[in-house]
Amino acid sequence: MNVLSVSQFSDDTRTLIYPVQKENLSAQLTAIAEETSLPIAILDAEVKAEKSEITTFFTTDKRIYILGLGAEPTSHQIIKAFRTLLFKHKAKVGTQVGVSLKNCPVDWIEFVVNGMELGKYEFGLYKTEPKTAIPLFENGTLELRTDDFKSELIEKGKHIADTQLRLFTLLNAPSNFKTPQTLASWAMHSGEKYGYKVRVFDSGECQSLGLFALLAVGQGSKSEPEFIVMEYQGEGATQKVALVGKGVTFDTGGISIKPSENMHLMKSDMGGAAAVLGAIEVAAKLKLPIHLIGIVPTTENSVDGDSMKPGDVIQSYAGKTIEVTDTDAEGRLILADGLSYALKNFQPDVLIDLATLTGSIIRTLGYHAAGLFTTSNELGKQLKRAGERTGERLWRLPMWEEYADHLKSDIADVRNFSGVPHSQAIAAAKFLELFVENHTSWAHLDIAGTAYGDTDLAPQRAGTAYGVRLLTEFITQLTKDPANDKSQH
Ligand code: BES
Ligand code: ZN
Ligand code: ZN
Repeated sequence: MNVLSVSQFSDDTRTLIYPVQKENLSAQLTAIAEETSLPIAILDAEVKAEKSEITTFFTTDKRIYILGLGAEPTSHQIIKAFRTLLFKHKAKVGTQVGVSLKNCPVDWIEFVVNGMELGKYEFGLYKTEPKTAIPLFENGTLELRTDDFKSELIEKGKHIADTQLRLFTLLNAPSNFKTPQTLASWAMHSGEKYGYKVRVFDSGECQSLGLFALLAVGQGSKSEPEFIVMEYQGEGATQKVALVGKGVTFDTGGISIKPSENMHLMKSDMGGAAAVLGAIEVAAKLKLPIHLIGIVPTTENSVDGDSMKPGDVIQSYAGKTIEVTDTDAEGRLILADGLSYALKNFQPDVLIDLATLTGSIIRTLGYHAAGLFTTSNELGKQLKRAGERTGERLWRLPMWEEYADHLKSDIADVRNFSGVPHSQAIAAAKFLELFVENHTSWAHLDIAGTAYGDTDLAPQRAGTAYGVRLLTEFITQLTKDPANDKSQH
């Protein structure tokens, strides 16, 4: 999709989209009536500007969509509304579409382009029926009528969407199409294409490095675990940020096996990895001035004669021994190695891990926010703000010492499962904290509810690429804030 800035739509642009919001709706409708010669009485009666409300009108030569954005629309709502419109109508809109953004804030450009590109995504990845080509996305043109044209915002919207679309495919892929090797080659290709370093350690190399917790989780799987290390060195960077993402390509629970009812959803247990892969790719594409490290320990958690068994004591990269009282609490094991590796080898200023870590966070926050755990008020605030700006929301939960009480083991340094039925998301965060060596700027994001969610567009839950926009915004703000510029201290 080619995106142009125009002051007037060209005559052969047959599809026009007018976003409207609740504030001053009648004035917006009057302007649309004047321009399109649609009767104001009909517009008034039909259009309420509810979130993602689509009202279609036809004039003699135009198809006109009035797209509701609700009241005080957030970036997330704008993206969602445009994605929904394009998803539902993409076969009808033709090759040339105009969007009227007169009197809209300039940053909407990014969200409109992003949402329209995301509308391309088809959920039926493995359906045999032939896919129909969509003219707009093949060789079409989007005309943006804006007061203030910003080509970098168009690029940003496109770049992020392109990464998100490929991550949807990765997230929605079932485990017979997605192994640790799939994640590793995604990273390798991305690194080659966008010019950042990628190293992948296979299980032999993990053994010599001492990534024993990752190896223990992977020992019951046919596909071997991999440890992916990515490094993007942006020009002018003054901050080093390390991101660690949980890459479990399928979580059966292991010998502590999960009930079968929802087990198929565990193909999405690599949502943290997807966020990290995406964030580093976007940072490289946008050439953000940051030194970014991405670490993805990736494995399946399977059941086999070689699988670790409840009660096994395993080693870790940090040298701490872990009693595995529940093999289904595998995410924290591989993250422990990922976090220790990041600290020992990169000494980052900021360390953030993202993981579909617990069902407990879904019981706490549902699907509308991820859990934020940090001992740094400053980092907590920055992440929460980025969450609000992007609609990829975060909610902070406590990390008081008492929550670690149940992680004491009789025979090892720590155990991986508290054994109590409550506060498991917090206990998981307390477990991870043992592996971050009192780093003063560490945060753990439990994205079990947000990585794979309802979209309205698919009958079932699907990958959201949660974290890509959040981390991009966080990094962008970090590189802007002079207080964070170490060269000034
Ligand atoms: N991958 C799951 C967490 C999960 C649950 C993600 C639902 C997405 C949706 C994780 O590995 C897990 O099994 N966690 C256990 C932890 C428990 C054994 C302490 C859980 O949440 O039940
Ligand atoms: Zn598990
Ligand atoms: Zn898991």
